[in-house]
Amino acid sequence: MDVQKSFVTNGNRVDVLRGIDLDIFEGEMVAIVGASGVGKTTLLHVMGTLERPDDGEVLYRGERVFTYDEQMLASFRNQTIGFVFQAHHLLPEFNALENTMMPGLIKGVNRKETCERAEAILTRSYPDSGGPRQSPETSCW
Ligand SMILES: Nc1ncnc2c1ncn2[C@@H]1O[C@H](COP(=O)(O)OP(=O)(O)O)[C@@H](O)[C@H]1O
Ligand SMILES: [Mg+2]
Repeated sequence: MDVQKSFVTNGNRVDVLRGIDLDIFEGEMVAIVGASGVGKTTLLHVMGTLERPDDGEVLYRGERVFTYDEQMLASFRNQTIGFVFQAHHLLPEFNALENTMMPGLIKGVNRKETCERAEAILTRSYPDSGGPRQSPETSCW
């Protein structure tokens, strides 16, 4: 609701989000379309609670998410939001299966269940790969 966000670089202020009002309903698929630099990523960052708006509110199921403290915001992102980034934000120390397991492990779901869910996600996302079980390093047991 009325989300505003500006950036200041070298003394120049760029008003990127100027009063965004947007409702997204359960089950809805929404694409944000616009030329490079219009503010799509900024809007997604604010909607995903990665960046605070300068003004306005982001509500999830009627709750103002930016009233949460950092700890609550972190668990909100962990349990409620899924991100697919344009650039890779994978942890290089871990393999694909471990990266996919990360949100579940952080949440504290047991390792075997998290591993099986991650395998299912990878198999669904990359069906031609033969699934993660092809490689011995990516196996739940
Ligand atoms: N962290 C930042 N600091 C300063 N300016 C930024 C920052 N992030 C984005 N901008 C500026 O905000 C505008 C919108 O950027 P962005 O949201 O990345 O657009 P899009 O994703 O639509 O290409 C651009 O002018 C960009 O240079
Ligand atoms: Mg972008």
